[in-house]
Amino acid sequence: MDIVLSGIRPTGNLHLGNYLGALKNFTKMQHENTCYFFIADYHSLTTHPTPQNLQGNVKQALVEYLAAGLDPEIATIFVQSDLPETAELYLLLNMNAYMGELERVTTFKEKARKQPQNINAGLLTYPTLMAADILIHRAHKVPVGKDQEQHLEMTRTFARRFNRMYNAEIFPEPVAYNFGEELVKIPGLDGSAKMSKSDDENSAIFLADEPEAIRKKVMRAVTDAGPTVKNSPKPEPVENLFTLMKAVSQPETVQYFDDKYNSCEIRYGDMKKQLAEDMILFTAPIREKIKELKANDTYIRKVMDMGKEKAHVSGAATVRLVREIIGFRPY
Ligand code: ADP
Ligand code: TRP
Repeated sequence: MDIVLSGIRPTGNLHLGNYLGALKNFTKMQHENTCYFFIADYHSLTTHPTPQNLQGNVKQALVEYLAAGLDPEIATIFVQSDLPETAELYLLLNMNAYMGELERVTTFKEKARKQPQNINAGLLTYPTLMAADILIHRAHKVPVGKDQEQHLEMTRTFARRFNRMYNAEIFPEPVAYNFGEELVKIPGLDGSAKMSKSDDENSAIFLADEPEAIRKKVMRAVTDAGPTVKNSPKPEPVENLFTLMKAVSQPETVQYFDDKYNSCEIRYGDMKKQLAEDMILFTAPIREKIKELKANDTYIRKVMDMGKEKAHVSGAATVRLVREIIGFRPY
């Protein structure tokens, strides 16, 4: 069985795009592979969160992932810093990571531009830490978005380099895991092509949003004055509204409004009302689960402990082997 691993940055709440584009697939994947999902709290230190924010964000991320359907009994769900062996592997990999290649990484250059007052070494070596995350479990597949492709490429380079240097076939070269044809892109409510947490707050529907907040955001969604010619093509913001509806509503509902659009009788207010109610219904089970889990610290702690233990079995074994290969042998 393939080993699949993915890291999640504990920043902000999950939105409908995260769920439909990534998480829903993770919940399926966990049954078909040996899966590791972890919360990348070491990585999040590059932006200097306060201890309170760090703790709150890690808990929120874990709660939302569990609420979305990741099963701690099936997959290994853990917090990155609960596997400190990662830090040792990171140190060891850094010995063979070169300044030139790290400085050329697109995400580093972008971050350096965005936070010129805080270009720390952790930012520069972000790809080595990510490689350590992946290689410590000797993962074969890593489900990531396009923005992480370069990091994965570097992970392969570091793996190859290590294997060659020590003439050992210890690390597999991980590949990006795509969800095939099911790849969906959920648009934003502001007319943007992709729902995202970093854009306008009102553009994204978060899994934890209360019904009233969902109604408000959807009613404010961007549309146009309405079609005047029958069967005319839909402008992008309107098309986006239909795409969102397809994701959460019954096919008959989508058909109904599509027919109304084509006959120039559509009332966007009615469509939005329907869309809001369907979104509320669609997210209800996750929203309820989030609330329930948030109030159950005992269970959350239990999940963390269980993940820590499982991650340790695999991670500690790799580091033990790496130490031996490098030459840290007991005399
Ligand atoms: P954001 O864009 O909100 O910062 P991330 O970049 O953290 O989200 O994405 C986390 C995961 O969710 C990735 O796998 C990404 O492909 C997926 N994802 C994010 N936004 C969308 C979207 N609008 N539609 C489909 N998938 C998405
Ligand atoms: N860099 C990833 C992101 O920004 C998060 C991450 C950290 C990760 N370590 C990882 C993803 C290992 C996959 C595998 O989304």
